[in-house]
Amino acid sequence: AFPTQVRLVEVGPRDGLQNEAEPIATATKLELIDRLGAAGLTHIEAASFVSPKWVPQMADHREVMSGLKRRPGVVYSALTPNLKGLEAALECGVEEVAVFGAASEAFSRKNINCSVAESLERFAPVLARAQEAGVRVRGYVSCVLGCPYEGEIAPAKVAEVSKALLEMGCYEISLGDTIGIGTPLKAKRMLEAVSREVPMEKLAAHFHDTYGQAIANLYAVLEEGVAVIDSSVAGLGGCPYAKGASGNVASEDVVYLLNGLGIESGIDLDKLADTGSWITQTIGRPNRAKVGVALAAK
Ligand code: HMG
Ligand code: MG
Repeated sequence: AFPTQVRLVEVGPRDGLQNEAEPIATATKLELIDRLGAAGLTHIEAASFVSPKWVPQMADHREVMSGLKRRPGVVYSALTPNLKGLEAALECGVEEVAVFGAASEAFSRKNINCSVAESLERFAPVLARAQEAGVRVRGYVSCVLGCPYEGEIAPAKVAEVSKALLEMGCYEISLGDTIGIGTPLKAKRMLEAVSREVPMEKLAAHFHDTYGQAIANLYAVLEEGVAVIDSSVAGLGGCPYAKGASGNVASEDVVYLLNGLGIESGIDLDKLADTGSWITQTIGRPNRAKVGVALAAK
């Protein structure tokens, strides 16, 4: 059955911007994060404590994380693939972090320079240290519906990695269709396999829209009871280690879908759409939120 309430995790400032080649001013990122909070987003992935050689756009992670105007009731999180990233994030007052693994060996190597098994070994001390600091950890699994290097990915592999992250202490597992290649039935079958190992209420859908299927895929998994959705304002984004991948599903389009289904999200769609128009104009990008474009034309 459909959930009555859905929590959106806004990943625009991180997933949305990480692939931008031209430097974006830290002040612009901070304004984006603040506007998203004002629109009602309660969970904002603000930065990524990764190597600036690998992802130059996230090099100002410290300035972003410590420069945030924190709104009550809003969680600002960051990616931390290793202890080095976690320690830096903790120094900046982070309250939630995320580790990111994959269901594909080849993608794991390209993205984080190690095998899936090695990645889990590296995450264990990150989880231990985070727990000690009272910081919650989210776990991502990439390539859940296909891999740019390996093609098909077995749902059993997705379930195995998800279960490992849960057992390690992640409070939520976000299932990433990194290259937006999935279709609704495939998404349902994958979810079915994963939800045998991880309770539905601990799962999130992180779908990219490369093939235009993200909203359809979300409808399919919402129907199965998924109640946490990752999205990016204006559909910003693309993954540096997945060529041709476009952004996450647009937050505006997700909110419109949820409103139509009578599912509560607590988000002010007009404010969100204004934010999408503003950021795309500011960084000179097309607005990939259909709902954002439609509302701006009204
Ligand atoms: P490595 O080269 O294996 O690690 O990188 P290393 O420990 O050998 O370090 C190499 C260099 O990186 C050293 O610097 C370290 O200091 C530095 P050097 O001595 O050469 O000057 N370094 C760091 N610097 C800053 N912060 C850190 C850090 N760690 C090491 N935390 C590493 C391993 C994971 C760090 C690297 O591969 C990396 O940064 N990868 C980037 C991965 C990334 O950000 N990908 C995009 C996000 S994932 C995604 O988008 C998918 C998702 O959205 C879900 C989905 O859609 O599926 C989440
Ligand atoms: Mg992503």
